[in-house]
Amino acid sequence: MQIAIDGPASAGKSTIAKRVAKELGFIYCDTGAMYRTVTYMAIKDQLGFGDEAAIMQHLANMTIRFEPGDPEQRVLMNDEDVTLAIREPDVTNNVSQVSALPKVRTELVKRQRDIAASSNIVMDGRDIGTTVLPNAEVKIYMVASVAERAKRRYKENIQKGIETPLATLEQEIAERDRKDSHRAVSPLRQASDAIRIDTTSMTIDEVVERILSLIGQVKTK
Ligand code: DC
Repeated sequence: MQIAIDGPASAGKSTIAKRVAKELGFIYCDTGAMYRTVTYMAIKDQLGFGDEAAIMQHLANMTIRFEPGDPEQRVLMNDEDVTLAIREPDVTNNVSQVSALPKVRTELVKRQRDIAASSNIVMDGRDIGTTVLPNAEVKIYMVASVAERAKRRYKENIQKGIETPLATLEQEIAERDRKDSHRAVSPLRQASDAIRIDTTSMTIDEVVERILSLIGQVKTK
């Protein structure tokens, strides 16, 4: 079974997707982490973020793997643990540019489909329901207001010891929405058969419950 969860940055996709996967005993695949890993590679190897040819050449020799870990799943670039490095601001602020490169998308979509072929899966991203897994049995499009998403990101940051003003976070989130929705290849949009969930005033438990009940309905059909 395939569950696709899409939506804009910081709408709560990964928190919810992880919980749903755990409840069901499914694998969880964070496709944003894959685009982030390619961006991290470009920084490390000193490649231009728009240099598609060089990025593709380096990507051909690079593996991206997910490994179970506590409390978080680990992300490995070849054998390097990049779980924390790919959340740094220099990656976050440049990943939109790298993820807009058509050949990078084609390659990562192929790798994402390979991962999904091996197991029941919950996959989150921007184009899962529309492009990567168009036949997913359950498709969720998760949204929340910019103000609420900035507030959630602010709290997460404080826990990690990062202090960014709320207004800056709001601007960054709105800018990332704009870039992700307007790129030429696979822009962020709701699949026609996706169910929209606005999480602005919902708790994590409520969203998880809602999705599990939708999955239950599909299973008993
Ligand atoms: O979900 P995230 O913030 O970790 O995603 C990082 C970036 O990757 C985001 O700016 C959009 C891009 N992305 C994408 O283009 N397609 C996906 N399936 C997942 C993420």
